[in-house]
Amino acid sequence: MNKSIILVGYMCVGKTTIGRDLAKLMNRTFYDLDWYIEERYHTKVSQIFAEKGEAHFRDLERRMLHEVAEFENVVLSCGGGTPCFFDNIDYMNQVGEVFYLKASPETILQHLSMSRGERPLLKDKTPEQLQQFVTEQLAQREPFYSKARHIVDVNVLDSFDKIKFVTQDIANAIG
Ligand code: S3P
Repeated sequence: MNKSIILVGYMCVGKTTIGRDLAKLMNRTFYDLDWYIEERYHTKVSQIFAEKGEAHFRDLERRMLHEVAEFENVVLSCGGGTPCFFDNIDYMNQVGEVFYLKASPETILQHLSMSRGERPLLKDKTPEQLQQFVTEQLAQREPFYSKARHIVDVNVLDSFDKIKFVTQDIANAIG
């Protein structure tokens, strides 16, 4: 059985885009954990945060992680916070090959300016607040992300074309 490939990293580093590409390249099924939660519960992640709070979301996220990560032959991209709660990162390292897509705060802020999407943790912030929040939260999360078995620098992703180099690097690491 092929262990799942699990992508972690901060919001907007490209987990979903790279994950989808990688799944195609490796002939695996792609899952995005947020989308999986939304389909399973027929609710947007932003709505779960607003109506039930973050603690409730983290509990659901943990349970759904356990459901999807043990499917066969998958690429799974997680939410930015997934590895930072409970023992999630240790569990991921046990059941899959975990890749941390590592980007600097500058790269993340640049990607964010192009797509803020519906990210409950980032909404209603001025550019200055956003910069401070991203820098501080990334520093807090780094110790969890860094427990991933593989680390991939995605600061190079300044054009769409370069995604194929990153996906190829990950595919090569798996062998
Ligand atoms: C979160 C990231 C989001 C989503 C939720 C919380 C986080 O996923 O799970 O809004 O805590 O970083 P993306 O990283 O796919 O945006």
